[in-house]
Amino acid sequence: MFNTMTVTKAAGALIGALLFLMLANWAAGSLYHVGAAHHGEGEEVAQAYTIPVEEAAGGEEAAEETIDFAALLASADAAAGEKDFGKCKACHKLDGTDGVGPHLNGVVGREVAAVAGFSYSPAMVEHRADAPQWTPEALQEFLTNPKGVVPGTKMSFAGLKDPQDRADIITYLQSQQ
Ligand code: HEC
Repeated sequence: MFNTMTVTKAAGALIGALLFLMLANWAAGSLYHVGAAHHGEGEEVAQAYTIPVEEAAGGEEAAEETIDFAALLASADAAAGEKDFGKCKACHKLDGTDGVGPHLNGVVGREVAAVAGFSYSPAMVEHRADAPQWTPEALQEFLTNPKGVVPGTKMSFAGLKDPQDRADIITYLQSQQ
């Protein structure tokens, strides 16, 4: 049975409930804001959430950069190196005579810029002071980026990017005395 009183009570209850919700909402909001401000200041709260980070990732990348050239050399393929030497043939011979570049027979272990009668660039002659001998390691560095390792060299060759190719060529050259 509806009468004015019932409607008023119901409306009152509804308004009261709304008011309560509004207040609760405001209270929660201000609590949240106070809390947030507090969080910003307190470092101990920031530590409450720790996001695990894979620290190994960086280490693995760094390990990939350093190649184990000794291991590559140990398993290198002289026959593949002979094929790859095709890239050098335009300038280098293996019969003791010089072309655009000095002959390369016996170059592994040879002194840098040591072929008598070949006119090396001043840069290569200077390089001898830093690294006097063509060790396999010195060769692999030079062949990676000739102009980077010996700035000003006359050797117009971009370099061999694949470490396996460098190891194969050096192994082949080792067999050419
Ligand atoms: C476009 C010609 C050219 C090509 C291709 C070339 N070289 Fe050379 N190379 C030269 C010249 C010129 C020099 C002398 C550099 C100087 O005096 O600065 C040289 C020097 C060198 C030396 C130093 C020799 C010494 O007596 O000190 C090595 C080792 C060498 N080259 C290896 C190679 C290999 C291995 C390849 C192939 C992967 C190659 N070069 C490709 C022209 C070339």
